Amino acid sequence: ATPGACPFRGTRIGGALGSEPQLDHWWPNRLKVELLHQNPAQANPFGPHFDYSKEFEKVDFDALWEDMRALLHTPIDWWPADYDDYGPQMVRMSWHSAGTYRIADGRGGSGEGMQRFAPINSWWDNGNTDKSRRLLVPLKQKYGAGVSWADLMMLAGTVALEDMGLPIQGFAFGRLDAWEPDRATYWGPEGWMGELPTETPADPRAGHPEEMVNRGIRWEGDVQEEYYDLENPLGASHQSIIYVDPEGPNGNGNPYDSARDIRETFSRMAMNDVETVALIAGGHAFGKSHGAVSADKIGAAPEGAKMSEQGLGWHNPEGPGNAEFTMTNGIEGSWTPNPTRWDNDYLENLFKFEWEKTESPAGSVQWQPTDPNAPKTPDAHVEGKMNPLMMMTSDIAFKVDPKYREICEAFLKDFDYFTEEFSKAWHKLIHRDMGPTDRWMGPRKGGTFIWQDPVPDVDHPPVDDAQVAELKRACLDTGLPARELIAVAWASASTYRDSDKRGGANGARIRFAPQKDWDVNDPAMTARVLETLGRVKSDFDAKGAAKISLADLIVLAGCAGVEASAKPAGYDVTVPFIPGRTDASEEWTDAESFNWLKPVSDGFRNYHDTRVGYNVAPEHIFLDRAALLKLNAPEWTALTGGLRVLNQNYDGGAHGVFTDRPGTLSNDFFKVLVSMDYEWAPQDAREMLFDIKDRNTGQVKFTATRCDLVFGANSQLRQIAEVYSAADGEERLVKDFVAAWHKVMMLDRYDVAEDRAKV
Ligand code: HEM
Repeated sequence: ATPGACPFRGTRIGGALGSEPQLDHWWPNRLKVELLHQNPAQANPFGPHFDYSKEFEKVDFDALWEDMRALLHTPIDWWPADYDDYGPQMVRMSWHSAGTYRIADGRGGSGEGMQRFAPINSWWDNGNTDKSRRLLVPLKQKYGAGVSWADLMMLAGTVALEDMGLPIQGFAFGRLDAWEPDRATYWGPEGWMGELPTETPADPRAGHPEEMVNRGIRWEGDVQEEYYDLENPLGASHQSIIYVDPEGPNGNGNPYDSARDIRETFSRMAMNDVETVALIAGGHAFGKSHGAVSADKIGAAPEGAKMSEQGLGWHNPEGPGNAEFTMTNGIEGSWTPNPTRWDNDYLENLFKFEWEKTESPAGSVQWQPTDPNAPKTPDAHVEGKMNPLMMMTSDIAFKVDPKYREICEAFLKDFDYFTEEFSKAWHKLIHRDMGPTDRWMGPRKGGTFIWQDPVPDVDHPPVDDAQVAELKRACLDTGLPARELIAVAWASASTYRDSDKRGGANGARIRFAPQKDWDVNDPAMTARVLETLGRVKSDFDAKGAAKISLADLIVLAGCAGVEASAKPAGYDVTVPFIPGRTDASEEWTDAESFNWLKPVSDGFRNYHDTRVGYNVAPEHIFLDRAALLKLNAPEWTALTGGLRVLNQNYDGGAHGVFTDRPGTLSNDFFKVLVSMDYEWAPQDAREMLFDIKDRNTGQVKFTATRCDLVFGANSQLRQIAEVYSAADGEERLVKDFVAAWHKVMMLDRYDVAEDRAKV
């Protein structure tokens, strides 16, 4: 023992705050309710009242644009630009920021600037994007809170494209920075890290593991088996990659396989074949790939890098570690003779020449022209040196896939067509997850596109309080049960997802395919309610005093239904209602894209599509839906308990309806749930359904799903359920239910001023 120290005390300082192991190691399957409370206002250095739109008003847009353009041409010693132009590396950084978007759950994308944080900042595919972001720091410092990192990162690539000759569609600001890593997004089952962050291998995929489940491919010995479906919601063939391995699946150098992977992953991003070719062929008109040094020599990625690296990663010990010694992906060379000019050389050379496989200095599979007289490309740094052109296996894919080939041929014949398609696809790529254009800021937002899910402007004065009251009465007087009014309003609004800010009640797209036909929406009931509300609307409009959109009326009817259901419990509440929604047209509704909003499992309505295969239990998907609705744990709990007693199961079934008076907004759900008068027994070994039995008589009183019982089983949710079950809990529940209901109805209302800046 240390002389003088107490012999019974430890002499070594143990774990600090958050040291592992922690809860998730001991109970890996626990429901991570705390994920509902991510990126809190406390983490934001601009404070809880930060209003980006106000700060942005102070920015001189033209000056910012010009500053960015100038930055692309200003040499910086610590990271010299290839071809004296930072444009191409900025385009790649922007594309990688936006390119993580996947349509299945709307997550990923550029919306919150997540490339600044782990794991994305450290993905192998994002190699040296840390340098591109660091080069932008002086500009970020100049504009401070006026321009978010997320916007600046997308602006960089867009200004670069315009500067290199691509006519762009426009650019919208409005992306709000996150201030901590996103712990919720599932990136796939495949591992990609060494065990200890400090020992992160430079290329975590080195050696190409035998089984790459992420990509939906399996290897039986040396034989490649059937393609599996890429797991929902994934959008990339491997973790740590934005889309596909440039060397072909598993680095196999096979362009046919690569084409299949490209189609699968780009369609997960809602890009069709034309958009896919336009993006890749367009992007690879610029810049080069970097593979001067073996991957073995490269240091750890930013998150695992040494203190002295100060947030930069992939330390390269060769030469100065940059310029002609740069090592990023491992492939070496440029696709075109003019890598900083928008032209059609990429496609022309791809098709004019035969390409043969070769290897980069770093040992990566790549392709070069067989014809020694093919054009060469100047070295990015060494004066007078000329290098052979390069293609990746994923580029050769365009030649071998018949559909891609046809599109390339059309682009080859008509450069203006290619230019237009690339410009439009880029615009979609970088704005896809920004949501309603009310969120978009700046003077150059561009045109209207169907992927924006546009709704018309309001062209009539809003209804006043008296008219709202009159309409509520009219809805209840139709004879439609409150249950159905509530159900359709919920079905309409709860499609919203905060990940890409799509869905919601505005537009009343529940009238159209595919939403009107989703079984979770009980199509016959929805049709009946919409038809009746349509009559209420036309009667009201015909009076000429004001007008109401169907989108508004659907929500209003739901509010009337909630008020009518609170009355029998003894609560005279007014559910807030803010008009201003408009009705979208079917022509401006992308049905295929909307079908991605269909829930496969929705605990709010006890819906679980058993035709789908699941790797996770329903309550975990339920948590996911609560997160997409931006609910906190009490809101989630109040809404579920309320919807149960309001009899809102999609099929009218009785699971979780723990009350003898369904349709009344009581706290019965919680009283039954936490009561020890009952015991809970699974109906079978799958433990999906449960009987709730009287502990004394053994009589089955109610039945339940996992999405009901989780509020009693999970320790965090149970605490909240107990609060609502208390003597003072019912009044609290009614108040909280109404507030959470209103929140859900308003999630997509970025047109309402006070909600404009909401994170
Ligand atoms: C560079 C792969 C799609 C724009 C690269 C590099 C790789 C790659 C491996 C070299 C990175 C390095 O070592 O520096 C792929 C694959 C794609 C794809 C596999 C999809 C199948 C795109 C798209 C765009 C794009 C859609 C933009 C619209 C660029 C640019 C560079 C680049 C501008 C040059 C960066 C520089 O000069 O530093 N790509 N890419 N790529 N990529 Fe892609």
